[in-house]
Amino acid sequence: MNIGIDKIGFYTPHLYVETKELAVARNIDPGKFTVGIGQEKMSVPPITQDAVSLAANAAHEILTEEDKQQIDFVIFATESGIDHSKAGAVYVHELLGINSNARSIEVKEACYGATAGIQIAKGHIALNPDSKVLILGSDIARYGLNTGGEVTQGAGAVAIVMSTDPSIMTLESPSTYQTEDIMDFWRPIFSDKAFVDGKQSVDKYLSFFQDIWKVHKQKTELELKDFEAICFHLPYTKMGQKALKAVIPEGTEADQERLLANFETSKQYNKIVGNIYTGSLYLSLLSLLELNTNIEAGARIGLFSYGSGAVGEFFSGILQPNYKDALHTAQHETLLAERKEISVAEYEEVFEDIVPAGEPTIELPVENDPAPICFSGVKDHMRQYVRKDG
Ligand code: CAA
Repeated sequence: MNIGIDKIGFYTPHLYVETKELAVARNIDPGKFTVGIGQEKMSVPPITQDAVSLAANAAHEILTEEDKQQIDFVIFATESGIDHSKAGAVYVHELLGINSNARSIEVKEACYGATAGIQIAKGHIALNPDSKVLILGSDIARYGLNTGGEVTQGAGAVAIVMSTDPSIMTLESPSTYQTEDIMDFWRPIFSDKAFVDGKQSVDKYLSFFQDIWKVHKQKTELELKDFEAICFHLPYTKMGQKALKAVIPEGTEADQERLLANFETSKQYNKIVGNIYTGSLYLSLLSLLELNTNIEAGARIGLFSYGSGAVGEFFSGILQPNYKDALHTAQHETLLAERKEISVAEYEEVFEDIVPAGEPTIELPVENDPAPICFSGVKDHMRQYVRKDG
């Protein structure tokens, strides 16, 4: 049975700051942010976007009425959850009008969550071939003003529909995964910002990739020559480049050229959006699929997922005939082009403008946010959302 990715949606807020402006404000050489880190723009979420509204906006653009009837499982992956008990998936299920005979859950393991969702969905569809599953990876990356991680912040969501005989990519088995209990990045319950041991996080990402890649090659007998491209979880684009460069000497000159060129394509969206945690690997896949001009159906794409804490996984997929027709490239081009640049001072103001913890009732200015779906406030401690298109 062929199971895989049938549709991919994406949403990022309408505001961004240029990282070279951020560097100047922080008294840092702009080259460190644009070349050393490899980030050009950083998405800035207004108070009217949270993990739920970002996810709902990402899915909203791709779901037909038929999809909504066929989806019987909504898996919401996030590390920016809005409630310790209720799943973000339940809100999205309601906002999008998905059939009531569906399961809706939230999964968590840092940036790895959406990959867990994809593998759970694969098993679910194998048992229920008529089913479609909606997987959401939605996050707001917050490290704090004037921190080492600040330039790697971002916000956005990716929505993936999985089914049998998918239009975009079938997923191969087996995949290779690994867990190790480490403290490279975490967010204690009380904090709205991540804690991070930056150097350890980079070292662990690299050692996870190299260890997993080694086991994967033994398990599958696949080598670099068998991959048209490898997409990476991209907390910042230089991270994926470091990982690729660690294994690339294994390939021929042609393999190296192909993988490096396709990596360039796969980082374009991430470079101008920032880290979106759970969605970052899939944003990179989307960048590769939408922006390449020469990758043909039948090509094998490798995917490396890493969630601090830590869990990693490597798996692969095969592109399907006419996969480009199933993409929403023009909408994403418009979404990214219509964003508004804000100054560092404005970004700092937006960053500090958060709903005060414990505030029972608050109304938010959704009229300032062009998104179709917004977080509109809190009523008796219950979060409220609005769909502007009715
Ligand atoms: N021009 C060009 N390059 C320059 C430069 C200049 N003027 N100045 C410095 N650089 C280069 C450095 O040489 C360095 O390059 P290499 O990494 O190739 O050596 C690069 O810029 C970064 O410099 P530093 O290592 O000094 O940067 P830093 O210590 O300030 O912080 C960071 C880097 C640790 C990644 C920090 O941004 C951070 O903590 N980020 C958040 C954590 C993170 O993203 N970790 C990634 C792995 S964990 C993960 O993947 C999960 C997740 O999503 C969080």
